[in-house]
Amino acid sequence: MKHASILGTGSYLPQRRLTNSDLEKMVNTSDEWITTRTGIHTRRIAGRGEENYRIAAGAARKALDMAGLKAEEIDLLVVATMTAHMMMPSSACFVQAEIGADNAHAYDINAACTGFLYGLDLADRYVVSRPDMKILLIGSETLSARVNWQDRNTCILFGDGAGACVMSSREGSRGVVDAILRSDGRLWNLLYMHGPASLNPDLVQNDHNGCYIQMIGRDVFKYAVKAMEEAVVELLDRNGVTISDISLMIPHQANIRILNKLMERLGVPREKVYINVDKYGNTSAASIPISLDEANREGILRRGDLLLFCSFGGGFTWGSMLMQW
Ligand code: ACO
Repeated sequence: MKHASILGTGSYLPQRRLTNSDLEKMVNTSDEWITTRTGIHTRRIAGRGEENYRIAAGAARKALDMAGLKAEEIDLLVVATMTAHMMMPSSACFVQAEIGADNAHAYDINAACTGFLYGLDLADRYVVSRPDMKILLIGSETLSARVNWQDRNTCILFGDGAGACVMSSREGSRGVVDAILRSDGRLWNLLYMHGPASLNPDLVQNDHNGCYIQMIGRDVFKYAVKAMEEAVVELLDRNGVTISDISLMIPHQANIRILNKLMERLGVPREKVYINVDKYGNTSAASIPISLDEANREGILRRGDLLLFCSFGGGFTWGSMLMQW
């Protein structure tokens, strides 16, 4: 049976940098507080011409270029996002038009920060049933449009960006090995974002304080560490693999304290973990593909390497995946 491998990666980060000292002028916070609690120094903020689908297209073009494929050769285009350009049509359809992926069918998936991991699993299932299928999977977020810039609890955490992978089966590489994907909708109200106001008066939600991210940070922190730890341990056990077999762990970049706790509990040495949260903050569904592209372009990844991904986000959604590079 053939599985999905990655043929090319790409990423796009908006030009504008927002530093902690910029945030000190916007809300009652300090560089010291943000750095010690989150590890974040700067984040990128999308500007004119950097809409969700445009930054997604920027990442996609680079991934296609690396894969040596034309946009017309793509059969399926999926964007993982919770900040789509419009409610309808999907960001994926906008990207399709932008890059000319005329032979693809296109749709979005929303699993918050775990969206890209869900997407990798989805791509693998398509490739298992049709090994020659070419899939463009993108994680793209413009969270700056969905953050309350007066709320110091949340506005310091997030950033914008996009990352993309071209996937298909490939000789000599296993690709996706196994994944554990989970969600628990009962805990939705610890981390959520309302949609636009309802035009049906019977469907108006009581707690309608605006369409921005709201969060009980402490609870999210605890659940995130525990859930990712359990998903990784179960996945490694199920595959007879230990941390020493892993070449690189690429976790969702939420904040450095979550990552430090996770490394400590799993016993993963720092040098085996890819971390760029200091530069980009939390870019939700885009954080894993941006990190993967950077690791790839830095030459860190070698054929045959065993990679470990893990993520956690609103829903709650979470999971882990093993992939042979
Ligand atoms: N600057 C200064 N003070 C602040 C700020 C800020 N930006 N934000 C909150 N505070 C204050 C609070 O008001 C509180 O003050 P008080 O004691 O007078 O009431 C104090 O700092 C402590 O607040 P806590 O919320 O308890 O701080 P905590 O140590 O939990 O850190 C944080 C907050 C960083 C949000 C942490 O809970 C966290 O990392 N949670 C995970 C959230 C996350 O990453 N969410 C992203 C989405 S999910 C994901 O991607 C995994």
